[in-house]
Amino acid sequence: MKQYTIKTLISEEKLKERIRELAKEIDRDYAGKEIHLICVLKGGAYFMTELSKYITIPVTIDFMAVSSYGSKTVSSGIVKIIKDHDEPIEGRDVLVVEDIVDTGFTLSYLLEMLRDRKPASLKLCAMLNKPDRRIREVKIDYLGFDIPDEFVVGYGLDYDQHYRNLPYIGSIKPEED
Ligand code: IMP
Ligand code: MG
Repeated sequence: MKQYTIKTLISEEKLKERIRELAKEIDRDYAGKEIHLICVLKGGAYFMTELSKYITIPVTIDFMAVSSYGSKTVSSGIVKIIKDHDEPIEGRDVLVVEDIVDTGFTLSYLLEMLRDRKPASLKLCAMLNKPDRRIREVKIDYLGFDIPDEFVVGYGLDYDQHYRNLPYIGSIKPEED
């Protein structure tokens, strides 16, 4: 694996602070209810773990995996379900937890599919958003940060499956300088 220079875009402290704020918002909005989090693997895993620790209303979790980028940094626009959620969602208050909304292909497809399964409510919580890259419109109900059109890694986000374990969000140049 080649090594790349990674520039910190969002520090661990800022991320954690924002995630705690989001958990508070979720607590408030879903007060008196039970929330079912569906994490989109693998990128959403770190974010959902951190977020769920600070939600105080009853929480259940599940996971899905969809194909998005392959190993390149360009979206194919093709979305494939690799792993579906385990538990039924009909009648439940579902919150999809995703790492980043880029072109919007993945989430627009996924949310439409989940909506057909008749959850009581369906919302989206995304750690990051790249508004400049949007092709398909996606409503983000809870958002960590808007970021510029840069390829980012860390906190679950990868470049060619690497760097997911960085505790911060950094921007990486895919090509060698
Ligand atoms: P979209 O379908 O174009 O919105 O892309 C969604 C998926 O592409 C995300 O869930 C990520 O897995 C991946 N992705 C988009 N932008 C980045 C990035 O900057 N770094 C790493 N992965 C990304
Ligand atoms: Mg993802």
